[in-house]
Amino acid sequence: MKSSEKVILALDVDNFERAKYFVDLLYPQIKIFKVGIHLFTGCGPQVLEYIEKKGGEVFLDLKFFDIPNTVAQAVRQAVRLKVKMLTMHILGDEEMIKAAITAAEEEASLLKIKRPLLVGVTVLTSKETTSSDVLTLARLGVESGLDGVVCSAREVEFLKKEIKQQFLAVTPGIRPKEAVSNDQKRTATAKEAIAAGSDFLVIGRPILAAKDPLQAVKELF
Ligand code: C5P
Repeated sequence: MKSSEKVILALDVDNFERAKYFVDLLYPQIKIFKVGIHLFTGCGPQVLEYIEKKGGEVFLDLKFFDIPNTVAQAVRQAVRLKVKMLTMHILGDEEMIKAAITAAEEEASLLKIKRPLLVGVTVLTSKETTSSDVLTLARLGVESGLDGVVCSAREVEFLKKEIKQQFLAVTPGIRPKEAVSNDQKRTATAKEAIAAGSDFLVIGRPILAAKDPLQAVKELF
């Protein structure tokens, strides 16, 4: 996979019009668009349909965290929306994670489609943390059957060394060298993240707030 194909745009914008603007501008340079609580709360599934019609794929980042049955039902809905990947908090624990995996598998087989990748959130990259906290959560997530974990690029090498099972590392907190870190505490550049073993890079403000977002994407590597 080329480095540029590992970039996921965090579509953290206010409304459908703004989302369409960035999808139209950046697809196909960017093929995966992350829709999080900000945009989804504002405009719901129509934005996912728009991305998919365009040819892009959706990373639904609603960070599910609830009792197992509720999360399982939410995961079923996400499968129906044909998302490529979705997130949940590993703090929700093994039972919640397993219920989510079962629901994703059942619903995908009913619809005869591939189930989404299920990705667990360890510790938000806006927080200072110890690597042992991240390792404990990442290990719990992977051992419970998740396909991947969200972690900072600075933790990827360590986690991949410590956790023997294979998993995808999804890393936010990416910043061009000279950029401000905003509220992200554990940042890395795109090149550093790839070198460390990140499988997907989640990038929002460095692209969204750039004078020329397309150029900002091109300058990542
Ligand atoms: O704008 P920025 O590049 O900081 O965007 C990072 C994105 O990654 C945001 O959408 C944020 O919700 C998400 N994220 C994060 N840390 C996590 C999980 C997700 O920053 N642990």
